[in-house]
Amino acid sequence: MSDHTTTQSGMPVASDERSLTVGADGSTVLHDQYLVEKLAQFNRERVPERIVHAKGGGAFGRFEVTGDVTAYTQAAVFQPGASCETLMRFSSVAGEQGSPDTWRDVRGFSVRFYTEEGNYDIVGNNTPVFFVRDGIKFPDFIRSQKRHPGSGLRDVTAQWDFWTLSPESSHQVTYLMGDRGLPASWRQMPGYSSHTFQWVNAAGERFWVQTHFRPEQEPHLSGDEAVVIAGVDADFYRRDLYEAIERGDFPSWTLSVQVMRYEDAKSYRFNPFDVTKIWPHSDYPLIEVGRLTLDRNPENFFSEIEQAAFSPGNLVPGIGLSPDKMLMARVFAYPDAQRYRVGTNYNLLPVNAPHAAPVHSYAKDGAQRHTFNPPSVPVYAPNSFGGPVADSRRASEVGWESDGELVRAAATLHSEDDDFGQAGALYRHVFDDAAKARLLETLTGQCMQITDDGVRERFFGYWTNVDAGLGAALRAA
Ligand code: HEM
Repeated sequence: MSDHTTTQSGMPVASDERSLTVGADGSTVLHDQYLVEKLAQFNRERVPERIVHAKGGGAFGRFEVTGDVTAYTQAAVFQPGASCETLMRFSSVAGEQGSPDTWRDVRGFSVRFYTEEGNYDIVGNNTPVFFVRDGIKFPDFIRSQKRHPGSGLRDVTAQWDFWTLSPESSHQVTYLMGDRGLPASWRQMPGYSSHTFQWVNAAGERFWVQTHFRPEQEPHLSGDEAVVIAGVDADFYRRDLYEAIERGDFPSWTLSVQVMRYEDAKSYRFNPFDVTKIWPHSDYPLIEVGRLTLDRNPENFFSEIEQAAFSPGNLVPGIGLSPDKMLMARVFAYPDAQRYRVGTNYNLLPVNAPHAAPVHSYAKDGAQRHTFNPPSVPVYAPNSFGGPVADSRRASEVGWESDGELVRAAATLHSEDDDFGQAGALYRHVFDDAAKARLLETLTGQCMQITDDGVRERFFGYWTNVDAGLGAALRAA
């Protein structure tokens, strides 16, 4: 771009180096319109960072169906032969925008499919479970992980205080303190829906589904490597992803699903709507759906990644929600955060608007709106003048049976549901001896930073409940 510089309204400007002043040494005048515009625009360059998952990066790519899941969903995006454009964003959870990528954390794994039936988002993590199972606990959980209100420092005692008082966290904390907490790159980590979603096939049959994105390999950093890298290159993962795509080394994942018969949910040994639980693959094996490849870096980080607004509620016909209490809270939380963070009409931005589907909406006006229907289209429904008509047969609404008093209660426990069982199974049956040794070292380091005797004692109890041997080894260490 080389041309004469203008103001934002197109007026040619006189200088980018000299303000308008009364004589060379006098006061600066307020009617230097360009100076005022430039300073005012600069002051408004930032939008609030995401309340969680603030530090991240992302890229665009393509998804191609390689399997046949027509028996389970009618979603156009997953029909044989289908392909579509995608956007992915990876992130850390607790750190701020400038925080080092390699601080131990769970990593966000957000995927947008720009489908011909509208945008479909899977907003998951690199772990298949979560710390808490009721959305009302989410703000408390996050506050315990972020900075102390007084010192402004991250507070290990607060983290363990919350976790040990919330034993349902043990499964996710075992992942976090294990190798998953320090991936070698975003390009080679798995991603999960974590929640159960509902799929509906063309015949109207319903299924419960968990999604898995698998990389070819899953290397991780050692604790020492992560600490050194955090100091040397705070943008280690962001740089790695960007440079890999620039050199044509395109990361890819296989998308698979676990599918549960609708009727099995009630009697399955684990409550399938409890996000702290997985479904063992021996019960529900992976079924391949397709392949996702990232091949295009953003041209503008702010417009295309910072303003990207993912939501677990962005679904397409054939895919719906489930009665997972966390998921239902999230359906409210994301668009609400984005109206505040990006602005009322955030869905009009090119990265958020559907790329392959039309929008026929009665939404109107609001800050920054620049799209509108022709004046012949009424602004209300129902109408007699040709406005769009809601069609329940096309909609992605799914259902489940539900009846009862309004209560504040934990979800019903299934036969094998407890807080520590799956965490213990992960430790004993998935971690090899070297991984167990790394976990012990990491937890010993954590324990040394706990400053409250009561919290430290609960820490030992927590890990003893996960595995008695681990608890004893920790106390000894
Ligand atoms: C009720 C529980 C939860 C609430 C209230 C919540 C809330 C939020 C909010 C407000 C954001 C910022 C959105 C934005 O400003 O664009 C966010 C981001 C995110 N959350 Fe959650 N969250 C919850 C649970 C979860 C769970 C269980 C997962 C993973 C399974 C998850 C994964 C993510 C990811 C990956 C992002 C970053 C999205 C992006 O890349 O832009 N969250 N969350």
